[in-house]
Amino acid sequence: MRRVVCPGSFDPVTNGHLDIIARAAQLYDEVVVAVGANPTKKTLFTLTERVELIREATKELDNVLVDHFEGLTVDFCRSHNIPVIVKGLRAISDFDYELQMAQMNYSQAGVETLFMTTNPLYAFLSSSLVKEFCQYGGDVSGLVPANVLAQLNARLSQT
Ligand code: PNS
Repeated sequence: MRRVVCPGSFDPVTNGHLDIIARAAQLYDEVVVAVGANPTKKTLFTLTERVELIREATKELDNVLVDHFEGLTVDFCRSHNIPVIVKGLRAISDFDYELQMAQMNYSQAGVETLFMTTNPLYAFLSSSLVKEFCQYGGDVSGLVPANVLAQLNARLSQT
């Protein structure tokens, strides 16, 4: 079985992420979306919430699983027997850091990284911008799935 991992913070998952996940699911037998826990990073949604939001948003995709991890992505790959990471690339600004990570991961663990170009519809999109826009009353309904929109509005109305 050909398996691939889509790692990320997903705080929260956006339509841009979902586009990459769905396209990867057309190419691989199984896609594991792995939500990274970074204790030093302040997130709007907890790890469990982020996992649940992605599960709900991908429930129509039969070959997509959602999991979480702490530590290195390559250790998650090793323990789940996944040889490939898929990452979306939006712009050249993403490239430098992603290239470094991909080369590090390959040189140290033999894990390949494949880059998928983001759908131009979502080239500007990031979880951070979605949160900021929403926080100040902007309409992000076309940028995130309905379940995320509901949780964003609920969470940000509390702050
Ligand atoms: O959505 P993000 O913030 O771009 O996701 C980043 C993530 C979780 C994929 C990245 O930070 C990551 O891989 N973290 C795990 C630690 C790790 O493996 N770092 C790479 C060292 S080369």
